[in-house]
Amino acid sequence: MSANPFSEITQEILDLAKLSQKNSAIDPALYEKLDVKRGLRDINGKGVLAGLTEISDIQSTTTDETGSIIPCEGQLFYHGINIKDLVNGFITEKRFGFEEATYLLLFGQLPTEVQLKNFTDLLARYRTLPTSFVRDIIMKAPSRDMMNTLARSVLTLYSYDDRADDISIPNVLRQCLQLIALFPMLSVYGYQAYNHYHEGQSLYIHAPDPALSTAENLLRILRPDSSYSALEARVLDVALVLHAEHGGGNNSTFTTHVVSSSATDTYSTIAAAIGSLKGPRHGGANIKVVRMFEDMKATLDDWTDESQVRQYLRALLNKKAFDHAGLIYGMGHAVYSLSDPRADIFRKFVKSLSEEKGLYREYQLYSLVERLAPEVIGEERRIYKGVSANVDFYSGFVYSMLNLPTELFTPIFAIARISGWSAHRLEELANAGKIIRPAYGSVAPRVDYVPLHQRG
Ligand SMILES: CC(C)(COP(=O)(O)OP(=O)(O)OC[C@H]1O[C@@H](n2cnc3c(N)ncnc32)[C@H](O)[C@@H]1OP(=O)(O)O)[C@@H](O)C(=O)NCCC(=O)NCCS
Repeated sequence: MSANPFSEITQEILDLAKLSQKNSAIDPALYEKLDVKRGLRDINGKGVLAGLTEISDIQSTTTDETGSIIPCEGQLFYHGINIKDLVNGFITEKRFGFEEATYLLLFGQLPTEVQLKNFTDLLARYRTLPTSFVRDIIMKAPSRDMMNTLARSVLTLYSYDDRADDISIPNVLRQCLQLIALFPMLSVYGYQAYNHYHEGQSLYIHAPDPALSTAENLLRILRPDSSYSALEARVLDVALVLHAEHGGGNNSTFTTHVVSSSATDTYSTIAAAIGSLKGPRHGGANIKVVRMFEDMKATLDDWTDESQVRQYLRALLNKKAFDHAGLIYGMGHAVYSLSDPRADIFRKFVKSLSEEKGLYREYQLYSLVERLAPEVIGEERRIYKGVSANVDFYSGFVYSMLNLPTELFTPIFAIARISGWSAHRLEELANAGKIIRPAYGSVAPRVDYVPLHQRG
């Protein structure tokens, strides 16, 4: 029994849940028979076509000379520009890239030098919370879950906005830019409040610096002494760029489209997207990766021994290790098969950062798992399209090397993905689409109504 009566699950609830579960079960064979795509995807990972977008494109298959569809190395494009070229561009020019990527996603073209400067200044001006918001909202009843804190803060901002329900493009753009600018503060201050009130640690509320990039400000307001190395800020900036957008079909972005299509306000829409991203099947996987590696290191006598690592991976799949879920976290993707381009980009930075942090042995363990896991999964599961390391495989490792608290791993995803959500909300509204309303086939038989006194 739970000590908190609010959270208690009584026998009555258990009985009702059993009834609900019994009468909710649908025969899995019906999905195939009626050609319903579970998860709105086929076995090759190809999603049901639900809309059109210019914001990004994910490529995971190609056609061979016979016209058959075959898996290929994964590619990701932001408004037609290959993500690898985008990252290469700002890294070569020694600039931060998140603001540039956000501009590209929102406005469909790369900014000129002047446009980028003006846009960065605009975000810096918007990085100011309404008076007393931190004291009255974030510090009050801090949640143990930062995604919950973030969603509550977003919904509360509605009350501070005189034009909250205006869904004209200029107003929605203004709201989105403010949210993009504010997400780091809402997330980090929420964490500081939790860390102080729940964990008994000192409370730090550092103000952002308008001259700094989003990534630098994140580290500045998080760290007690506000200090960080150039490499740390660059790696975090790359992480933000890689997480900023991933097509209209990913769960939280599709949520953005669905909720936007009802013509509701920006705050309701973004709070719904945050709720989706919070799920461990979506934004929460990188925490699992880090914990899985901690368990692996604690369990194995020698984690440089290939056969021991292989054995541990097999135990994971057989639900005999770590969380007994049968998964090797950070491996596989709903769409990508041979490779996830975001993991490819991350890998290079992870190597340099691990050297700077004296964690090169850990990096070697990650590399070993990356090589062995697809083989072991292939031996234990039926693979249709190939399995490789996904973006979460390295992002959790990066965040732990940056000493970011695990509580902030998913909010950092949100700090990046708000750019993609904003672009998709604007695209949905600009095309004045119809309300999204797909079909669910009913497989229930018709049943006669029985008056209350005649029921058994
Ligand atoms: C992301 C994920 C849900 C995609 O699953 P999917 O769409 O079924 O992918 P595939 O069709 O390639 O999978 C083929 C089989 O391999 C299994 N598989 C794929 N990746 C796996 C993994 N990392 N661990 C264990 N089994 C895996 C699938 O469950 C499926 O087996 P099943 O048919 O018995 O269910 C899956 O790869 C996964 O759970 N990965 C671990 C969690 C994770 O890292 N998530 C972050 C994604 S960015």
